[in-house]
Amino acid sequence: MTEAPKTAGTATLTLGDKSVELPVLSGSTGPDVVDIRKMYGATGAFTFDPGFTSTASCESALTYIDGDEGILLHRGYPIDQLASKSTFVEVCHLLLHGELPSASEFESFERSVTMHTMLHSQFDRFFEGFRRDAHPMAIMVGTVGALSAFYHDSLDIHDPVQRNISAIRLIAKMPTIAARAYKYHVGQPFVSPRNDLNYAENFLRMCFAVPAEDYVIDPALARAMDRILILHADHEQNASTSTVRLAGSSGANPFACIAAGIACLWGPSHGGANEEALNMLKEIGTPENIPDFIAGVKDRRHKLMGFGHRVYKNYDPRARVMKESADEVLAATGRINDPLFQVAKELEKVALNDEYFIERKLFPNVDFYSGITLSAMGFPTTMFTVLFALARTVGWIAQWQEMMEDPSQKIGRPRQLYTGPTERDYVPISQRG
Ligand code: CMC
Repeated sequence: MTEAPKTAGTATLTLGDKSVELPVLSGSTGPDVVDIRKMYGATGAFTFDPGFTSTASCESALTYIDGDEGILLHRGYPIDQLASKSTFVEVCHLLLHGELPSASEFESFERSVTMHTMLHSQFDRFFEGFRRDAHPMAIMVGTVGALSAFYHDSLDIHDPVQRNISAIRLIAKMPTIAARAYKYHVGQPFVSPRNDLNYAENFLRMCFAVPAEDYVIDPALARAMDRILILHADHEQNASTSTVRLAGSSGANPFACIAAGIACLWGPSHGGANEEALNMLKEIGTPENIPDFIAGVKDRRHKLMGFGHRVYKNYDPRARVMKESADEVLAATGRINDPLFQVAKELEKVALNDEYFIERKLFPNVDFYSGITLSAMGFPTTMFTVLFALARTVGWIAQWQEMMEDPSQKIGRPRQLYTGPTERDYVPISQRG
């Protein structure tokens, strides 16, 4: 179902006395792109685009976002349909293999994920090396990178079979690692995966079962967990995905690339925003404090976390589903009157009617309601970004696979607009003023 880009005309660029015709390419949907690959050779000039606000870095057939309309499609399927009708493991198959699986394909795919959930027993020693108060994302960055040292049999990135094994290992082991990061953090013994549970159930049990008491799975919470994983599974060429691609473009192994993605995701402008959003709601505390908080946003003393997006200039479609999940989880856990949920709903209402947010097209993003939901499920704020990393692993690895199969793939190597000193001679220290 992947379509090769079509030539849709040319764009003429004139620089001084030089003129160059640049091809304009059309994908299957979305804005056309001007192909500038020959531009430097023809004109001696680069383009300048800090933050890549106008630059497509690759061809991709995985995920499509229309930020103005608030549309998110994975392999053509709308996110709200996937969130309400599919399962996370099915979405993993869709992202990795391009199609929803048949019943037998699903069975064998799910089985291979289930059969790879365990970690080498020696791997557990890595956790012991971290201080108890280490942020679980610090543990994730370190331990996921360390997987490279355990799977020499699947590190040949030019072998599609080995690439696929690494992809399955990462998707399968990430819940086990994330749950261990949590258990270590709270000082409880690790809980091993169980093959009779589905992906979300297994993860919840590895987080919340203790030796004295098994975890009773609430189907409403397991379904909400699965939906949260679907909502975060992939999101086109965001910062962490671009980091994974850039790391992979040099030929680095997939475990190292995913560790790089986790490091990038940690930042508060990206995956770290869910933690920051809940901290912000706690700080606001009650709806009466919202006007003061909004005044602080306008004075640029702080940002409204969980609002705004580089691509969405409309309601993030994931936020809509997440708000429904928050409702369901709060009802299932008897917290429907949760004061922070009331603050969040009121804050959203105030912001959506305020000129500052309207003129900048700032809407709630996926992180606005995810913290409330995860907190009601029993996760501490420090685990929120870990859950994002767990879910996004499939997107990262599917994008990495796509890059490895792309014949036009090159090492990523941006250029720069140099503003430093021009060439000058070295002056011995005794002669410097
Ligand atoms: N609160 C207040 N003002 C904001 C916010 C916000 N959350 N987001 C953007 N603005 C303002 C910004 O100050 C700027 O105003 P002005 O033009 O007057 O200088 C204008 O809106 C445009 O913002 P920008 O910074 O140029 O937009 P960007 O595309 O570079 O940044 C963003 C996108 C997500 C980094 C930013 O909206 C933000 O920091 N949001 C809060 C953090 C957050 O919720 N991140 C999660 C993103 S979704 C999950 C994920 O994919 O990681």
